[in-house]
Amino acid sequence: MAAIVHILNGPNLNLLGQREPDIYGHETLDDVLRACQALAADLGLEVATVQSNHEGALVDAIQAARGVAGGIIINPAAYTHTSVAILDALNAFEGRVIEVHLSNIHKRESFRHHSYVSGRADAVIAGCGVQGYDLALRHMARLLEI
Ligand code: DQA
Repeated sequence: MAAIVHILNGPNLNLLGQREPDIYGHETLDDVLRACQALAADLGLEVATVQSNHEGALVDAIQAARGVAGGIIINPAAYTHTSVAILDALNAFEGRVIEVHLSNIHKRESFRHHSYVSGRADAVIAGCGVQGYDLALRHMARLLEI
């Protein structure tokens, strides 16, 4: 169980590469997740991925990780700033949690400065672009003592 990591991505991240590329870059979510799969294999982690534009589907995905995954890497996207439901689901997950944002949310509009998830997260990575997922996986491997 400890070596399984779920990578969850929230709304509009399916448009990565097309969506505001000056902020989020030119790589697609498929590119990012393919790189994650390759790195995970090197690190001895098994990765499962979910992207959803729906809050309840993300809650379901977090619940599905209970008793299965040692850790969750999550970019909740806009739900970062609004979702008590995602926070509650993460609080019911017993493993490690790393929050990732492509952009530095603290350098942007004030409504992006607060994250409901950060208080639950073991680590928060923001502003490193797609490399944030790479950093998150490496740190997750350390947290899970792989
Ligand atoms: C984001 C930042 C959020 O504020 C925004 O709503 C997103 C993406 C990021 O990865 O930088 O959709 O989570």
